[in-house]
Amino acid sequence: QDSDRAKIIEAHELTIKLYHHILNNTKQGQAAKHYLRERGMSDKLIDHFMLGYAPDEWDVLARFLTKRGFDPALMEKGGLLSAKSDGSGHVDRFRNRIMFPIWDRDGKATAFAGRLIGEGQPKYLNTSETMLFTKSRTLYNLHYARPSIRKSKQVVLFEGYMDVIRSWSAGVKNGVATMGTALTEDHGAVLKRIAEEVIVCYDGDDAGQAAAYKSIPLLERAGLKVAVAMLPKGKDPDEYISEYGPEAFLRDAMDQPVSVTKFKLIYSRKNHILLKEEGRKNYLLEAVEIVAELDSSTEREVYLKELSREFDISLDSLKQDCHQKRQELQKKKPQGDNNDNSWNNGRNEK
Ligand code: GTP
Ligand code: MN
Ligand code: MN
Ligand code: MN
Ligand code: MN
Repeated sequence: QDSDRAKIIEAHELTIKLYHHILNNTKQGQAAKHYLRERGMSDKLIDHFMLGYAPDEWDVLARFLTKRGFDPALMEKGGLLSAKSDGSGHVDRFRNRIMFPIWDRDGKATAFAGRLIGEGQPKYLNTSETMLFTKSRTLYNLHYARPSIRKSKQVVLFEGYMDVIRSWSAGVKNGVATMGTALTEDHGAVLKRIAEEVIVCYDGDDAGQAAAYKSIPLLERAGLKVAVAMLPKGKDPDEYISEYGPEAFLRDAMDQPVSVTKFKLIYSRKNHILLKEEGRKNYLLEAVEIVAELDSSTEREVYLKELSREFDISLDSLKQDCHQKRQELQKKKPQGDNNDNSWNNGRNEK
């Protein structure tokens, strides 16, 4: 119902202001503010992203919203309050957390992510799915990033909220992130509507790199060009900026994204022990398989030449293996498709 939606959005807008006020101007918010400071968040950033603090109490928000005439049952549906188990009323959903407001792509406030101050589990708590909030379609910061994405036709995809915010302050205005859930086909479609290319910049740890690997075929299927910005030393963008500064982050990661093929080669390489002959051989076979996916023979040759030089294998034999791999891949293509392009798409779909 439209009036329900409007009420829920209005309540979120007020709640954002309340939590932001508590963070900035109250004693209760001091520890959270200190934590954000330590993590390199300026007042300007905190204001821009309207970060806040949900105090360690049961019903601050419940009372606040009730006093302003919002129906607690509707606020429960909207994800701001929870029903008490004994049915005697409502309590706040978020307590003792740093609050990240989530706006939909039109800039309507529809949800929150709340982070613990310091360590613990779960580190982040999100609004559950509501009539206004669907995780599988939502991208954090899309409303702010949209003008920049439209202009450059590029979007940078991060793993975390903090990564989006810190890289925004480093000058990356076209960054978005998923809600901590996996990237979906719907996300791909949302991005395809405004962008041509996605630069995947996930955490430099193993989990982040594995997630980046998985995101590639999904984004390609959506019709997007993909490149990967890799972070040295297993860090995430936020950690990298804290440790080495914004310029280093731009220089080392943002300014030199690698091609999907290059990324896959680097990824595969990490799984093989190149000091051993067996490892070298297996890596080479995998590498040739990766290169064989490329439709341009020029591109294929560039990579094969590199491999040939590095491993001292003749270009001819690499080319032969690559050719054979391509024929194997061709056989897997969907029937009735003869051009190289659809062959490649078909393969991605398996
Ligand atoms: P910080 O520790 O604050 O820097 O967060 P991070 O973004 O670096 O966290 P991490 O790399 O562990 O996870 C990436 C993203 O996954 C986060 O931004 C969240 O969106 C999500 N995430 C991480 N932990 C949890 C969790 O415990 N619950 C939920 N729902 N999401 C999480
Ligand atoms: Mn403010
Ligand atoms: Mn991570
Ligand atoms: Mn991270
Ligand atoms: Mn982090």
